[in-house]
Amino acid sequence: MNTQIQTENASKFSREELREAIMTEYKAVACDPNHTIHFTSGRKLAKRLGYTEDIMSQIPESAIRPFAGVGNPFHIDEPPKGSKILDIGSGCGFDSIYASILTHRSIMVTGVDMTEEMLEQARKNAIIAECTNIQFVKGYAEDLPIPSESMDLVISNGVINLCLDKEQVYKEIHRVLRPGGEFRIADVMLDIPVPETSKELIHLWTNCVAGAVTKTEYREYIKNAGFIWMGFGMQYDVFHDAKIAKSAAYFGAKGQNILGIKKG
Ligand SMILES: C[S@@+](CC[C@H](N)C(=O)[O-])C[C@H]1O[C@@H](n2cnc3c(N)ncnc32)[C@H](O)[C@@H]1O
Repeated sequence: MNTQIQTENASKFSREELREAIMTEYKAVACDPNHTIHFTSGRKLAKRLGYTEDIMSQIPESAIRPFAGVGNPFHIDEPPKGSKILDIGSGCGFDSIYASILTHRSIMVTGVDMTEEMLEQARKNAIIAECTNIQFVKGYAEDLPIPSESMDLVISNGVINLCLDKEQVYKEIHRVLRPGGEFRIADVMLDIPVPETSKELIHLWTNCVAGAVTKTEYREYIKNAGFIWMGFGMQYDVFHDAKIAKSAAYFGAKGQNILGIKKG
């Protein structure tokens, strides 16, 4: 069964309309310090997800405040020194800068995001953090502006649930990774699938729940993209004090670390 085709057929909006709605939301996150998102974000969230104060003290507040991840790509270990890393949906640059400082700026990081205002803010943040080893590039997760087999590690935090075609995103991740390369991704996962009627409501997608799927469905996308191994890691209850806590609890929505390896 191709669940992705079912999801896309059920959507009453196009991929472009969804992207517009998401960009409007994240433009506000990037530009307005008073804009709050649908769940606890920023420093409080980062601490909850296990990011260390030691590294965060070296990251500008303008990169920490808009942080809206749902897990921690560095939970198991830090990126290998000298590696090339891609951060998909890099937002204001928090994870890219964190990875850079964690490895004493020994890695090369490319952040890709579709929202101009996020990219602008991320570039400023990297300069303040003195991370000359990071570049931020405009692009889409489903069509990455990155050469094939050029990355050692792909990270992404709280982004793929916002993409209509998740299998295509994982195919792109598979394409840009070198043989033997890995991904460490955090995304929203559900216990109960969101009904097709709710998936039609675009504002529920920007809340990070309507676009999320169950682990069974998610695993299928990763397998179909060609990965030889994948596993689920730590889970985080990121929605328990959110504005949408009730509906998140109903569907069992949680932040989830996911790991995978491309055949060597
Ligand atoms: C929830 S925020 C997470 C940002 C960042 N990873 C963090 O942890 O703070 C989602 C980000 O993904 C970007 N995004 C959403 N869908 C995207 C897509 N299809 N292609 C590229 N970027 C996308 C948004 O512009 C936004 O910056």
